[in-house]
Amino acid sequence: MNPVKDFQVNGKRVLLRVDINVPLKEDGTILDDFRLRKSIPTIQYIVEQQGKCIIIGHLGRPTSRSKKYSLQPIAKRLQELLGRTVVLLQDPIGESVKKDIAEMKPGEVVVLENIRFYKEEEDNDPQFAKKLADLGDLYVNDAFAVDHRAHASLVGIPKYLPSRMGLLLEKEIHALEKISINPKKPFVVVVGGAKVETKASFLKAISKHADAILLGDLITKEVQEKGVDVSPNTELVYALNGVDGTFDLGPRTIQAFCEKIQLAKTICWAGPLGMIEEEKYEKGSLAIAYAIIESKAFAVVGGGDLVGFLGKHNLREKFSHVSTGGGAMLAFLSGEKLPGLEALEK
Ligand code: 3PG
Repeated sequence: MNPVKDFQVNGKRVLLRVDINVPLKEDGTILDDFRLRKSIPTIQYIVEQQGKCIIIGHLGRPTSRSKKYSLQPIAKRLQELLGRTVVLLQDPIGESVKKDIAEMKPGEVVVLENIRFYKEEEDNDPQFAKKLADLGDLYVNDAFAVDHRAHASLVGIPKYLPSRMGLLLEKEIHALEKISINPKKPFVVVVGGAKVETKASFLKAISKHADAILLGDLITKEVQEKGVDVSPNTELVYALNGVDGTFDLGPRTIQAFCEKIQLAKTICWAGPLGMIEEEKYEKGSLAIAYAIIESKAFAVVGGGDLVGFLGKHNLREKFSHVSTGGGAMLAFLSGEKLPGLEALEK
């Protein structure tokens, strides 16, 4: 995969797929702009190189066009972050968009309205992808967090245009490869959240390299009930659920986890370790966050809820890498080929 810096973008129409799927309140207030901030360097690069930046993104899982899922608040926030005008184009495949793009000057930025307003996006419709591709000269994928989806704007467009990976995508792959290929040992994995079935292939794949996997309260229960297929050389460290704490890690579990973390050279943490929606159940996740920070290990964290939680406590900057991906990060670390990345390789 070639990086965006290989492109001569000067004067070119650059279709840039980003993941700007951020949590919003009903009134459109953005609750966390982390993914938008992470998308800025590639946009800035295209702008500085005098490319015409045409942003493609999705928000939520809309079933029809509605204000609730409009990218308007996101375009506004990008405008603030970039300090330059960002215009939202309402109809990404109509006649007016062609005219609007034809009138763009080098260094200008537009955002196409939520690409999931079109069913053809998720159906990976080839004609839809062609119509989108016709709007640009070059294509850049900087949307790691959605690269596990085989959607038109991710796998369809690169069939028609010279394609590169954006700066964020490059960073994500680089960091995750430090974990999935010969991680420095001891390698400790911390897994929270629930629904063990969504993490089963991740646990199996990561256990090939991990020395220990520390399991949060809910997932401990599920693993103990349903079992999990992991390498026999990996130690599973369970939360003492019910006994030590409820809805959060208790003191003995925290201590057992911290002992492993202190010795680690590489750490991967996916999913919160308690019911962090309620402040009284934040203790375990906070204690583990501080232990990881103090360990000085190369540490990668991911998953929307956990990343939101670390943001709330101003701790994100203290980790080696905070992934923008949730499902995409787990899929990558499970050894799956992500469709969006495969499309760039072809
Ligand atoms: C995410 O938020 O994880 C990505 O944007 C993918 O969204 P999706 O699960 O709705 O495809």
